[in-house]
Amino acid sequence: MALKTRSQGTGSSDPYDSKFLKGVAISVWQNSCDDQLSNWSRYAYSRWPFTHFGLVGTTKGKYKIGNSCNFWERYREDIQLAHDVGSNTFRFSFEWGRIEPTHGVIDPAAIKRYHEMLDAMEELGIEPNATLHHFTHPIWFEDKGGFEKEENIEFFVEYSRIIFREFGKRIKLWATFNEPTCYTFLAYIGAMAPPGYIGNMITAGRVLHHMLKAHTAAYHAMKAMEGGSGAQIGLVHHHITFKSRGDNILNYPVKWVCGWMEYWWGWDVVDHWMLTGEFVWKVPVVGTWIKEKDPDGKPPCDWWGINYYSRVVLNWLFQTTGFQGEVMTDMYYPIYPEGMYNAIKRSSKYGIPMYITETGIADSKDDRRSVMIESYYKAVLQALADGYDVRGFYYWTLVDNFEWAVGYTMRFGLYRWEADGSADRVLREGSKALVKLFKTLPDNLEKLKAVAIQSSKKGWSDLGLSGYA
Ligand code: BGC
Repeated sequence: MALKTRSQGTGSSDPYDSKFLKGVAISVWQNSCDDQLSNWSRYAYSRWPFTHFGLVGTTKGKYKIGNSCNFWERYREDIQLAHDVGSNTFRFSFEWGRIEPTHGVIDPAAIKRYHEMLDAMEELGIEPNATLHHFTHPIWFEDKGGFEKEENIEFFVEYSRIIFREFGKRIKLWATFNEPTCYTFLAYIGAMAPPGYIGNMITAGRVLHHMLKAHTAAYHAMKAMEGGSGAQIGLVHHHITFKSRGDNILNYPVKWVCGWMEYWWGWDVVDHWMLTGEFVWKVPVVGTWIKEKDPDGKPPCDWWGINYYSRVVLNWLFQTTGFQGEVMTDMYYPIYPEGMYNAIKRSSKYGIPMYITETGIADSKDDRRSVMIESYYKAVLQALADGYDVRGFYYWTLVDNFEWAVGYTMRFGLYRWEADGSADRVLREGSKALVKLFKTLPDNLEKLKAVAIQSSKKGWSDLGLSGYA
C-alpha cells in the first residue's frame, strides 16, 4: 500500500487536497502550430518528411500544417468544449516562442492572449494546469544550442520568471517540462523532432541532464518570487516500457534493442534522479558517460505528472504488436491498462501527489476509445482504492491535433476535427464514456476514494466499468 512516505515538495495550503481534478490536456503548439517562431515550426517547414509526404500533413502534401485546429484563436470555444465534457481543470502549455520571439523581447499580445485564456477558464470554474515547456522553444534559443549547453539553462529560468511574474497569481499548478526524456529521444536519437539527430546518444544524455537541472533551477527561481510558496511546481514524465514478445533465441536481438529503447526513454534514469539526485547516463559499448550527483540531494518537486499511454511490444521481426488478446491502437502500441497501475505504483515512491497528466488513444474508427477510457480509468480508481495518492486525470486530447512527426494522421481527440475542413469539433461516440465518468463520479477526492474502495470490493459493473482488464 502506497502512502505518502516523504515529500520532495514544500507541502501545500492546498485547494486541491480535497478535489479530484478531471479534465483534458493539450499543448498550445500542437493545437495552433504555425507560429513561425519555434523550433518545431521551423522543423516542420524544412524537413523532408514534412514537406514531401501528404501523409504527415504539410506544405506540399495533402494538407498544409497551417494553424492545426487553431486553439490560439478559438481558445474560448475549446475551453467551453472542455467544460461541456465535464472538465474542472485544463492542462495547456505556454509557448515560449510566442511569448519571447526575440531574446529579451516580450510580445504583449501573446501575454494578453494567455490572460484571455485564463479568463475563459476562470469564468467556467476550470483550474488551469500550465506547462512551461512542451517540446517547443524559440528559434533563437535553439540556435544558441538549446539545452545542449549548460549555460543556456539560465534563459529557460529567466523565461520561467517572466511567466510566473505575469501569471503566478492566476495559476497554482505548474509543470516545468513535459516529458524531457521523450524530447531527448525524439530530437537526438530518433530523428523525429528538432534538431533531428539520429543515434546521438551522447548529446541526448547531456540535454536530458541539463533539462533536469533546468527543472531544479526554475523551481527554485519561481518559489523565490512573490506568490511562489503557494505554487505547486511539478514535472511531467512519460512512462513507457519496451518488451520483446518472445523469449527464445530468435528474440535475442529484439530483447537487446528493447532494453536500450527503454533506457533511452529514460524511466530508470529519471527514477534514479528523483530518488537520489544523481544523474547517470549510459551509452552502449562505452558504459557510463555522465555521473553527477546534485550536492543538494533529491530534486525539488511538488507533484508528479504521469503521462501514460501503453508499452511497446516487438516481435522477433521488430514489428510492433501486442501480447495475445491485446487490442492495438492506431499508434504502435496496444491498449494496456495494467501499465497505468504500474506507473502509479512506481511513481508513488517519490511521496508526492500524482496527477495523470496525459492518457488517451489514437483511434480514427472510434471503435476502441470507450474501452481504453473505461479500462484506464478503472486502473486509476483501483490505484486510489489501494491508497495511492492520485489527484487528477487528464485525457489527451480535446480536439484532434498535430501529432508531431506523424502530423495530422493520429486522432486522439474527444472531438473530431479534420485538417481538410470536413469535420470541425464533433464529439465522438466513444468519448461519451469519459463524459459519463467525469459527470457522474464525485469531484471530491475523499468521496471518489470511497466509491473506488467500494467498487473494488463489490465489482466495477455499477460504474459501468466491466470488461477488459
Ligand atoms: C506528448 C503529446 C503527444 C501525446 C500522444 C505525449 O507523449 O506529451 O504531445 O501528442 O504523447 O502521442
